Amino acid sequence: MPDPRPRPIPTSLDVSNVPKHVAIVMDGNGRWAQRQGLPRTVGHGAGEVSLLDTTYGALSIGVKVLTVYAFSTENWRRPVDEVRYLMNFNSGLLQRRQQELHEQGVRITFSGRRDWRVPKKVINNMDNASALTNKNKALTLNIAFNYGGRAEIVDAVAQLVADKVPANKVDEKALRSRLYHPELPDPDLVIRTSGEYRISNFLLWEMAYSELVFTDVLWPDFRRENLFEAIEEYQQRERRFGGLDK
Ligand code: IPE
Ligand code: IPE
Ligand code: MG
Repeated sequence: MPDPRPRPIPTSLDVSNVPKHVAIVMDGNGRWAQRQGLPRTVGHGAGEVSLLDTTYGALSIGVKVLTVYAFSTENWRRPVDEVRYLMNFNSGLLQRRQQELHEQGVRITFSGRRDWRVPKKVINNMDNASALTNKNKALTLNIAFNYGGRAEIVDAVAQLVADKVPANKVDEKALRSRLYHPELPDPDLVIRTSGEYRISNFLLWEMAYSELVFTDVLWPDFRRENLFEAIEEYQQRERRFGGLDK
C-alpha cells in the first residue's frame, strides 16, 4: 500500500528549487511483467502503487502539477484484450483511489480526447473523480488519457477555426489558450522511464523548453525516491529559454 506520509527527502535535494510541473511517461510495464514470465497486464496493475507513491512524493516536496501519460492515442493499436484491460484498470484505479487522493488535497484532471472509443463507464468515472476533487489545491494530478500531442494541437486549431479567429489574430497565445489545460504551467521537467529515449507524442507543445530526464527504471519499480533523483538531476541543469541567463 502506498503510504501518503512523507518519507525522508534527501538533503542533496534543494527544496527551494522544486519544479512546479513534472510530467512522466510511465513506460515499461509490459517488460517488467514479461521479465517475470507474467502477462503484460500484470505490469500495468503493478504501476498503480508507483503512481500513488510518486504522487505522494511530489506532494511532500511541493510539486504543484504532476502530469502522467496513462494511455496514448496510439495505444489503441495494441491487442484488444490489452486495450480493454487498460480501460478497466484506469477507470477502476480512479474509483479505488479518488477518496484517498481527495483527502490529500489532490485535484484530478484529464488531458485527452473524449471520443467514442472510450467506454461510457470510464468517462463517468473520470467525471466523478474531477468533480469530487475539483476544489483541491495541494497538487493537480493531470492524467493524460487517450492523449496525443498532435491531436491536442489539431483540436486547438479546430477550435480556432470554430471561433472564427482571423489569420492575423492567430498567435501562440491564441493557440495555447485552446489547449486542453491552458491554466497549467508548461512542465519544467519531463521524466521517461524504462530506458526509452523518445517523446512518443507526449505534450508536444508544452515541452518546448522542458528539461528531459531518462531513467532505466521500469515504471512498476518507480517510487518517490526515483522522482527525487530525477529532480536532483534537473537541479543541475541550466535553463536558458533561448537567452543567455536565467
Ligand atoms: C506503459 O507500459 C503503459 C502504457 C503504454 C499504457 P508499456 O505497456 O508500454 O510497457 P512496455 O514498454 O511494453 O514495456
Ligand atoms: C507512451 O508509451 C505512452 C504511455 C506511456 C501511455 P508507449 O510504450 O506507448 O510508447 P512507444 O510505443 O514505446 O513509443
Ligand atoms: Mg512502452
